[in-house]
Amino acid sequence: MNLREFKLERFLAEYEFRAPYLLCTSDCESVSIGDLLAMEEGAADAFSAIRLGYGEPAGSPALREAIAGLYEGIGPDAIVAFNGASEGILAYMSAVLAPGDHIVVQCPAYQSLHETARANGCSVTPWRMTEQSGSWHLDLDTLEESIRKTTRAIVINSPHNPTGYQIPRRDFLAIAEIADDHGIAVFSDEVYRCLEHPGTGRLPAMADIAENGISLGVMSKAFGLAGLRTGWIATHDTAVLRRVGAFKDYSTICNSVPSEFLAALALRHADALVERNLGIVGENIRLLEGFFDRHRDLFAWSHPAAGSTAFPAIRFDEDVEQFCIRLVEEWGVLLLPGTVFDYDGRHFRMGYGRRDLARSLERLEEAIEAGFCP
Ligand SMILES: Cc1ncc(COP(=O)(O)O)c(C=O)c1O
Repeated sequence: MNLREFKLERFLAEYEFRAPYLLCTSDCESVSIGDLLAMEEGAADAFSAIRLGYGEPAGSPALREAIAGLYEGIGPDAIVAFNGASEGILAYMSAVLAPGDHIVVQCPAYQSLHETARANGCSVTPWRMTEQSGSWHLDLDTLEESIRKTTRAIVINSPHNPTGYQIPRRDFLAIAEIADDHGIAVFSDEVYRCLEHPGTGRLPAMADIAENGISLGVMSKAFGLAGLRTGWIATHDTAVLRRVGAFKDYSTICNSVPSEFLAALALRHADALVERNLGIVGENIRLLEGFFDRHRDLFAWSHPAAGSTAFPAIRFDEDVEQFCIRLVEEWGVLLLPGTVFDYDGRHFRMGYGRRDLARSLERLEEAIEAGFCP
């Protein structure tokens, strides 16, 4: 496969583990293994008794049962577990799509959502979001116009990374209908699902509403358990399940057995984990509102509706990538330039799922007060 460099992941690999003030990570605050095991009586003993042999290729029955609990009409047999959502994306784009196929992808996008398809010989039409008067939009007419005879899938992501946009419910249902009318799939990246902010409703899972709907989920974001590297694809389409499962035989064969145990445990307590993380997100959003209010001369933002990221823009005259690199090198504060999403030279991603946001934001304000922004 001729995969181009994953710009976002390369940028994070360079800075994330040495910058002391992280202001752009997309995952929520994690918990320790001990805290997780304490959620259920007997879990610690059961965990230490796990034997470290191979696991079931599609994921352990206990894990798939727990994942199924997140859906209305999806049972354990309609799920294949992966090592992260990342592996699920790679499996779908490599094993379900074929060279010559066409997909339409909501953009800006997490790069693997289009790059893995492109590397497999597919053509990609970006379905571009626009920003108007302080909010993000997606135009359904543009989507319809982008569909061709060779189109196999519409690829969407809501809640959206990086903007924090949530597709309106009516549009989400319309996307399912458009796909069904054309006999094509909707590959719906729902890794930030459950992180809807107050006043934003939760969307149904695409796997529950579209004939060819595929929902991508993961433990990393709303549940704050990225280190488990546990994700999944849920769909009623048995051919898709078979193909992505067969792909996994070549990538990782099975998931990490201890991770499967911990992920299933966490999902049995999903409400508690999500409530905790929504609390952190809510507090952080208030801090960000204050920050953008105080610095409206320097930054503009469209208020996010869901998820754990936002995509503000600088209002001063500097290339945003240079700005982010200067900021992390001189002040240790990490923001993610929009250029890693192939977006313009002004936007940058902020992440607000971590407990230490206040401390990092204070550091950014210190830099601003010292005259860091031109
Ligand atoms: C939209 C989106 N999809 C998929 C992923 C991959 O998730 P994971 O790293 O847990 O595999 C990410 C990670 O940032 C993401 O933002």
